[in-house]
Amino acid sequence: MPAPRKQPLSAERLENLAALAGISRLELTIEKVVQGGDGLARWRDLPIFVPRAAPGDVVEARITERRPGYARAEIEEVISPGPLRREAPCPFYARCGGCQLQHIEDDAQLGLKAAAALEALRRLGGIDPAQLARCHVGEPVADRRWGYRLRARVHVQQDEDGTTGVGFRRRRSHDLVRVDRCPVLAPALEASLPDLPRLLDEAARSGKAAPGRLSLATEGLGEDSLVVASPPVVGLPAGPLEIELPGRRLTFDARCFVQAHGGLLETLARSAVGDFEGETAVDLYAGVGFFTVGLADRYGAVTAVEAESVAARYARNNLRLNGLRHCQVERAAVESWVDGKAGGEGLANGLDRVLVDPPRVGLSWNVRRALLRAAPARLTYVSCDPATLARDLGALTRDFDLESITFFDMFPQTAHLETVVQLRRRG
Ligand SMILES: C[S@@+](CC[C@H](N)C(=O)[O-])C[C@H]1O[C@@H](n2cnc3c(N)ncnc32)[C@H](O)[C@@H]1O
Repeated sequence: MPAPRKQPLSAERLENLAALAGISRLELTIEKVVQGGDGLARWRDLPIFVPRAAPGDVVEARITERRPGYARAEIEEVISPGPLRREAPCPFYARCGGCQLQHIEDDAQLGLKAAAALEALRRLGGIDPAQLARCHVGEPVADRRWGYRLRARVHVQQDEDGTTGVGFRRRRSHDLVRVDRCPVLAPALEASLPDLPRLLDEAARSGKAAPGRLSLATEGLGEDSLVVASPPVVGLPAGPLEIELPGRRLTFDARCFVQAHGGLLETLARSAVGDFEGETAVDLYAGVGFFTVGLADRYGAVTAVEAESVAARYARNNLRLNGLRHCQVERAAVESWVDGKAGGEGLANGLDRVLVDPPRVGLSWNVRRALLRAAPARLTYVSCDPATLARDLGALTRDFDLESITFFDMFPQTAHLETVVQLRRRG
């Protein structure tokens, strides 16, 4: 979670901070979950962020960090559980850093994340509250909460006894938590975990050193879906996978980004592409063309921009595969491309549509400036980080009106949240 905004410290808060310096354990009542997944409690007027807490929990907590405007604490004991708390289903949850919300009932997670994201939009973005109030906030969208994930990056570690371990990073540490199951992974992906150490050991015996990290991907939610790895592992296929969207085929492999939730692909694509139509559209941060192929149905010419060479190659292949001759892929960093520094003319004026789907860091200042300058009739922002989304919308809503915001639970059991925002040029 980004640090809360700096504000002048009141005399009372300074006094409270001084008092907190002499205290290592506190009883706290958790008010709510904030953006990033931590619980928020207050000691006197001081905000204290507590990971793995649920609203209504009363906990005994150990202070781990003291900052001028806030503190952080770890739960030592749950004195009285809040109404949404449950026993985490995964046996690795206490140690593994992959999930943050397994201690909260499945049905409650998305509502808590959506409320925290809306609060981040209000507090961090400086978005005009009247605009936010006018914007339609859609019903949050969820599908299966377990066995959904089509991609995973696992860490590989050779232990002193020579055995190979595969797993995820421990919470707040670079150490490995070895796992032989991970119930958020799609079934075929999860089923591949127990075999990985043996396959990597066999490869090592024949002279192929184990990689430090392994990207795994599968193409569907079936038990028998193909699983591929990158770098390749002898015993697992390495070749392309294919997912289907209505009327479209998309190829990719374990090196590429692909939307993570196998049950929400179609709904997410439909929501982002929407019912709008026109002549010209640009898909920035296009990956293998997940949104490009949908925009292709509705626009006379579509340009997709993607920096990674492998993803851009798949995107071109996917356009060919689907016979989309009116679309093209530019392999370039968006930051250079929009200003015409990647060989082309850059982001043109008069476009009917731009869709952006950046990584967590969001848009750089020059991409925001280029969008404001080019002023497309419609702008769609697909975000996987509400904090950077808030910052970017703060700038973009100077010239664009917010039409709708829809939250998608693409990452159940974790604090991550996907958001689709539809904007329209003002005037
Ligand atoms: C969140 S993913 C979205 C991909 C695609 N829209 C999809 O839905 O599958 C972000 C994509 O942007 C690409 N990317 C990251 N930084 C970039 C940059 N500076 N310029 C262009 N592409 C970038 C990544 O390689 C990745 O494919």
